[in-house]
Amino acid sequence: MKKHGTIIGLGYCLPENIVHNADLEKLVDTSDKWIRERTGIKRRRILEKEKPSSDMGVKAAKDALKNSKTKAEDIDLIIVSTESPDYLTPSMACVIQDGIDANNAAAFDLNAACSGFVYALTVSDQFIQTGMYKNILIIACEGLSKVVDWKDRNTCVLFGDGAGACVMTSSDKPGIINYDLGADGTKHKAITIPCTHFDEDELFKRNNKRTQVIFMEGREVFKFAVNAMTASVNKLLKEVNMNIDEIDWIVPHQANMRIITNSIKKLNFPMEKVVITLDEYGNTSSASIPIALAESYEVGKIKSGDYVVLVGFGGGLTWASILIKWA
Ligand code: ACO
Repeated sequence: MKKHGTIIGLGYCLPENIVHNADLEKLVDTSDKWIRERTGIKRRRILEKEKPSSDMGVKAAKDALKNSKTKAEDIDLIIVSTESPDYLTPSMACVIQDGIDANNAAAFDLNAACSGFVYALTVSDQFIQTGMYKNILIIACEGLSKVVDWKDRNTCVLFGDGAGACVMTSSDKPGIINYDLGADGTKHKAITIPCTHFDEDELFKRNNKRTQVIFMEGREVFKFAVNAMTASVNKLLKEVNMNIDEIDWIVPHQANMRIITNSIKKLNFPMEKVVITLDEYGNTSSASIPIALAESYEVGKIKSGDYVVLVGFGGGLTWASILIKWA
């Protein structure tokens, strides 16, 4: 019988430290009013400077294991989605494996920026369909405060830290129904965090020529995001002959309220069925979708039998959507 990936438990971790928009007025020339009106963000969580981002990933992973009633030793594979790893090597997946004692698991990182969690779910489902693995732990873990230029008002007001996780297991029933992944590498310079290389022309666009921090062409990403999210969800549903009004919840990447409302309007979907957390947590990159998913499940919004669409976009530029029938 054909095997399908099914999510059986969710977890998340948010740092305790809350940074309000007004706090950022002390760092850069901005205002609470501008940030709320242009992005919808009111506050975000920021990890203590001395702590590694993987700490959040370990906590989110433990939460997902507990909620799915899965033992760490029964995990066959750990995939971590991150664009803000503690190290280039080792992978954050190995660091988290150590933190949760998942000694029987293979482990690797995946970087598709903010689309990373949906990419990781797709990769996991493929491993399950081939029968190679039974239990997979997927964690999206982002310590963006460590790669933000706190003197660049174009970016520092947008981001927050956090981690979300889930356990996917092999099942006879879907589960995961369909996915759509994509990338437009011609726009790879629209969002960058240079590591070992940057072009001279890029240097001059950066705030005070600072490297190793996030640079973003906000307007270009904005336009791309609305089109990519809408096209991806339409394709996802069309391929399985489903209609938008059969969907119970959409959980979009939490980057900007205006991007979300524009895309949802184009999809002809009611805003009341869209999960929003960006007012509280800002943009936590690939962690934003699993955090929003875990929170909405915790408060009883998402129920067994619901059709849920997750849709993200981000650096690369990438996009990804997935359709899940909730177990
Ligand atoms: N406070 C006050 N003014 C600001 C701020 C700020 N924090 N930031 C920019 N401005 C100013 C600009 O300098 C500009 O001033 P000017 O008109 O005098 O030149 C003005 O506000 C308007 O700037 P825009 O860039 O046009 O503002 P926009 O409405 O596009 O909003 C934003 C900017 C919020 C970045 C938006 O473009 C956006 O959300 N883009 C998408 C970002 C995104 O989704 N990223 C996701 C991927 S992230 C990842 O992968 C890590």
